[in-house]
Amino acid sequence: ATTGETPPGQSTALDGCDPPTTKAPVKTTPNAGKPGAPGVGDPYFANAGNGGYDVGHYDIALAYAGRSKGTVDATVTITAKATQQLSRFNLDFRGPKVTRITVDGEPATYGRKGQELTVTPATSLPAGATFTTVVTYAGKPGPVRNNSLGTYGWVPSKDGAVVVAEPDGAPTWLPVNDHPSDKATYSYRLTVPSDLQALANGTPGPTTKQGKTTTYQWSEESPMAPYLATVAIGKFDVRRGKVGNIPVITAVDPRFKKSAAALQKTTIKAVAWESKMFGPYPFATTGGIVDDPKLDYALETQERPVYAGFAPDDDFIVHELAHQWFGDSVSLKSWPDIWLNEGFATYAEWLWHERGKKDSAKKIYKRYYRQPSASPIFNPPPGKPGRADLFSFSVYIRGAMCLQALRTKVGDKAFFQILKTWASSRRNGNAATPDFIAHAEKISHKQLDGLFKAWLYSKGKPKKW
Ligand code: ARG
Ligand code: ZN
Repeated sequence: ATTGETPPGQSTALDGCDPPTTKAPVKTTPNAGKPGAPGVGDPYFANAGNGGYDVGHYDIALAYAGRSKGTVDATVTITAKATQQLSRFNLDFRGPKVTRITVDGEPATYGRKGQELTVTPATSLPAGATFTTVVTYAGKPGPVRNNSLGTYGWVPSKDGAVVVAEPDGAPTWLPVNDHPSDKATYSYRLTVPSDLQALANGTPGPTTKQGKTTTYQWSEESPMAPYLATVAIGKFDVRRGKVGNIPVITAVDPRFKKSAAALQKTTIKAVAWESKMFGPYPFATTGGIVDDPKLDYALETQERPVYAGFAPDDDFIVHELAHQWFGDSVSLKSWPDIWLNEGFATYAEWLWHERGKKDSAKKIYKRYYRQPSASPIFNPPPGKPGRADLFSFSVYIRGAMCLQALRTKVGDKAFFQILKTWASSRRNGNAATPDFIAHAEKISHKQLDGLFKAWLYSKGKPKKW
């Protein structure tokens, strides 16, 4: 699956993308071992991820030239472990021109086709070996624009850029093994003109100024799916606080200045409350970033969600922070199971309303249940929505209704225990829908296949539960 990367209706930014090239020594004898597969076999994204290795860490050194140029100069160091003997392997990358690649310090040959960046090391990599790939590239990254999934990836803002990459936008700016099944830790050194700031996931390190530029350091120390990696460059009102022992860092674009205090306050309230509902907060820090590109959606970028083009209300903040447990810490094994992220985060909003006492998740469920069977809240079935409907109403609302149906069936005590132990037992891991069904059955001691079949996979409105 190395060609036809671009599905109909999707134009990818291939700004400065070089044609397939061969650099460095041309070998006469092929490497031993087999090539790593160009995809992990995700049903919705054939080219996403790659086979033959597992990434442990991405170290990203990126210099941003400023808004007028919009260019970056980057060196990304990828530490990975070969899971087979590798004659060559692929990365996913749709970003600007690659200027050099080394593997374990030796120049490697490489070629590009669509989003596949094929790297052939000087000598093959033995199975089980830890190896280091350094990719250097420069040019102007840009977003993916897609009819069904919108604009995502590296998105220019008025004064910089922001990355929101779900589902497959990470390769717009980063050479990466782009699949949620390969989580890794990340470190960032972001160098920007000194009138700008740079944020990313996780914990800040020391900031250093050198003449006209300033370097910001961040590190994400918990395993993270590539689509959750973010960088936000621009002018921001940055606020710091704490919720329990957890540092809170929020950053708000000047255009949304008025919402800075509310973002900080609600983030703290939501994390405190969700920690009671879902168990201990899974990461080292929390926060949020409001930036100006008008995408009108938010993304649960790990430890620091991005709200793109609007001041978020409580529901939005509660939703993105709930994803820290459901989606970020417990991640998808593959994209068709997206309801495990969106159904859960939507249900968290309903629980937030229930906390306010005036409403309840059950009442919200009942109001939606009155909708006709043909309504988009019921179609397509959320358990396997199809690539174009990954973020459709049904994934969010019927996904949340499925959890309410489960709660009604097993009772509150078992239900909340299911949620908490799901988060704790799968922390920093990956899961699929059958794993959740087995987990719910184990905790509740009930047979639940029928319920999940009806709510996740059957057409139209399920019979009442
Ligand atoms: N996961 C995000 C949320 O919080 C939605 C991401 C939408 N992505 C996109 N490319 N439209 O619901
Ligand atoms: Zn969501």
